[in-house]
Amino acid sequence: MSNTAKGSVTVTLDGSNKSATLPLLQGSIGPDVFDIRKLYSDLGVFTFDPGYGGTAACESEITYIDGDQGVLLYRGYPIEQLAEKSDFIEVSYLLLNGELPTPEQRKKFEHDVTMHTMVHEQLRSFFQGFRRDAHPMAILCGVVGALSAFYHDSLDINDPAQREISAFRLLAKVPTIAAWAYKYSIGQPFMYPRNDLSYAENFLYMMTAVPAEDWKPNPILSRAMDRILVLHADHEQNASTSTVRLAGSTGANPFACIAAGIAALWGPAHGGANEAVLKMLGEIGSVENIPDFIAKVKDKNSGVKLMGFGHRVYKNFDPRAKIMQATCHEVLKELGIKDEPLLDLAVALEKIALEDEYFVSRKLYPNVDFYSGIILKAMGIPTHMFTVLFAVARTIGWVSQWKEMIEDPAQRIGRPRQIYTGPAQRDYPTR
Ligand code: ACO
Repeated sequence: MSNTAKGSVTVTLDGSNKSATLPLLQGSIGPDVFDIRKLYSDLGVFTFDPGYGGTAACESEITYIDGDQGVLLYRGYPIEQLAEKSDFIEVSYLLLNGELPTPEQRKKFEHDVTMHTMVHEQLRSFFQGFRRDAHPMAILCGVVGALSAFYHDSLDINDPAQREISAFRLLAKVPTIAAWAYKYSIGQPFMYPRNDLSYAENFLYMMTAVPAEDWKPNPILSRAMDRILVLHADHEQNASTSTVRLAGSTGANPFACIAAGIAALWGPAHGGANEAVLKMLGEIGSVENIPDFIAKVKDKNSGVKLMGFGHRVYKNFDPRAKIMQATCHEVLKELGIKDEPLLDLAVALEKIALEDEYFVSRKLYPNVDFYSGIILKAMGIPTHMFTVLFAVARTIGWVSQWKEMIEDPAQRIGRPRQIYTGPAQRDYPTR
């Protein structure tokens, strides 16, 4: 990894004669950053950045976002082109290895992924330990963490071969565990993976097939699922990816790190948003109720947010949302759904929000989750599986970022500092 110092920034401490010269670093594209690593040793001060909005925590060659222009690139390739011309297996290879595969490389990669889709049979018994009404994210988080207890032969993070096997295992087994979490919640038998199907088809198969009946893939639905996976595969240093990196920086094994990422993804401000969008649309109920709902959103004391709107980085539009909107119409057409009240409601809500001064002035646009929930609902996937699906897609991003971090010679344990505002030292009272 490398970056170039293109200049420097000098910081002078008010009221003292101390100053520090900090290198100004340049990436291949995007804003420059200044390197504050010597700030404390030179000036005795830290930086303060809750939420890390102005802090680059690592160097990465994987994903680039320009939030003002609505640009998302995986290894340099625009998301629009990948969504149209590529597929999830190829995108996974790209994220993990840095380049698109040759046909032979792709064949081998797909083979290696499919050869790991089954889970250790004993893992089945883990599912029985959960209540039937457990949220599938709770099951996913627990069972993925438990993989470290089953695959001792791929836990040495310093061995590149073991890192590679772990990457394949995670990419291949997370869909199986995710589908089984769902089957468990509805009391249906677990469906074992089928390696003759594509990644997206196999996932749909394990979720929707039953042993008593034949199952045939629907190409439009498989394509929509593949596209959802591509669009969610990586998103640079978001909360769950940063969690994976932070956990990984301690030397924790990859299964434990990905379980930590799943936990971080669960929250409604992150991966839980697509589930929250559907819940919100259900609560609004009909188009007439939108003005009252918008009034609540604008009232800071209500604590109500317009779910599926806003993004920490995109302040123009989320390029994934545009693709998702088109896919949404394709899926509804294929399924013959002409009047989907939730879609009508979503379109009306989007229109009002895009014209309303509150949202316009804050640059709040629909994000990827605004439409993904409606597609998934139309495909018959229950709401509580939405975030699980996101986790299936993001696993390759987490694994690629984790691998990049371990292979970065500049990598250190992640350990932010703080501004302490509690009591200064005091003596325990004599009573
Ligand atoms: N509804 C109403 N107001 C909002 C929303 C929203 N969805 N999002 C932001 N705002 C307001 C904030 O209240 C704030 O207003 P103020 O300046 O008057 O105080 C302003 O817009 C700026 O918002 P921040 O909270 O500073 O934005 P931040 O970058 O911290 O949050 C986030 C981004 C968490 C995504 C937020 O927009 C949100 O909660 N959105 C809804 C949840 C959602 O859809 N999450 C999915 C994100 S995408 C993903 O993870 C795949």
